Amino acid sequence: MSKVTVRVPGTTANCGPGFDAIGMSCTIYNTMELVLSAEGQTSIAIYGEGSSQIPNDDRNIALQAVKLVLDYHQILDTGIQIRLTNNIPLARGLGSSAAAIVAGLVAANAVTGNRLSKQTLLEMATTIEGHPDNVAPAIYGGICLSVMHAAGTKCLSFLPPDKLGLVVAVPEFTLSTKVSRQVLPKTVPLKDAVFNVSRAALLVGALAKGELSYLKYALEDKLHQPYREKLVPGMEAVFEAAAREGALGVTISGAGPSLIAYTTENHQEIGQAMVDAFEKHGTKAVYHVLEIDTIGAEIIEFIP
Ligand code: HSE
Repeated sequence: MSKVTVRVPGTTANCGPGFDAIGMSCTIYNTMELVLSAEGQTSIAIYGEGSSQIPNDDRNIALQAVKLVLDYHQILDTGIQIRLTNNIPLARGLGSSAAAIVAGLVAANAVTGNRLSKQTLLEMATTIEGHPDNVAPAIYGGICLSVMHAAGTKCLSFLPPDKLGLVVAVPEFTLSTKVSRQVLPKTVPLKDAVFNVSRAALLVGALAKGELSYLKYALEDKLHQPYREKLVPGMEAVFEAAAREGALGVTISGAGPSLIAYTTENHQEIGQAMVDAFEKHGTKAVYHVLEIDTIGAEIIEFIP
């Protein structure tokens, strides 16, 4: 019997203009305990966020990720016991599914002798999730710039030189990534693509150099946010409320519906203003004050 516990951060993808390419890990965590045993039985216990919605059978994506690694090593007929303790809100744009996938891969890799590199885990995770912008920071931590290439998923991770606060307003309704992608157009005008390329480039430079005053311009987007606005009632009002309290910029977190403000000051005031603006539009919300996680997925206990 081997047992491992891994801790995986939530993530905020897109970061405005970096649709399906840029993501950062946040200081909010799920943990997963995995026990492999000879008995051959599978069980999944889920606590915390999403415990009544997440399936505890073969549909569970953490279990699917564990099995992917076991199958890779041709380890069959083993008992799999999983215990998930979740703090990342489910289906709110904070990478809960990426965290589950990465937890399953990293835990299964640990109990099978750590034979797969992070690069291989990234490619496996991207194949399951379909895009790398949540799974990459969940694995590596920090800010991750990812590309899907014929040669595999490539990711460059870095940390900004100074502390950056992330204030996330999490509305009480959920929004699946599938639904949030269905509202996007199949093609976009060239000028919108240029708009985003210029912002995404500025964003990376601003974060890497700590030139945070540029975030005001660099977080703008025309590829996904304008289409998703109708799915998040009050979005513009929440953006304005955060800016009024001194936020450097505000975006949809991932596919939404959470909205995330970047700031170096007034964290609580920004969070409360965002929640109040949501409530004025009939939506209950809570806020979390987070930072960029610097570690990514981490093994916190291992019993061989
Ligand atoms: N890049 C993805 C999207 C993130 O915006 O749809 C959500 O998984």
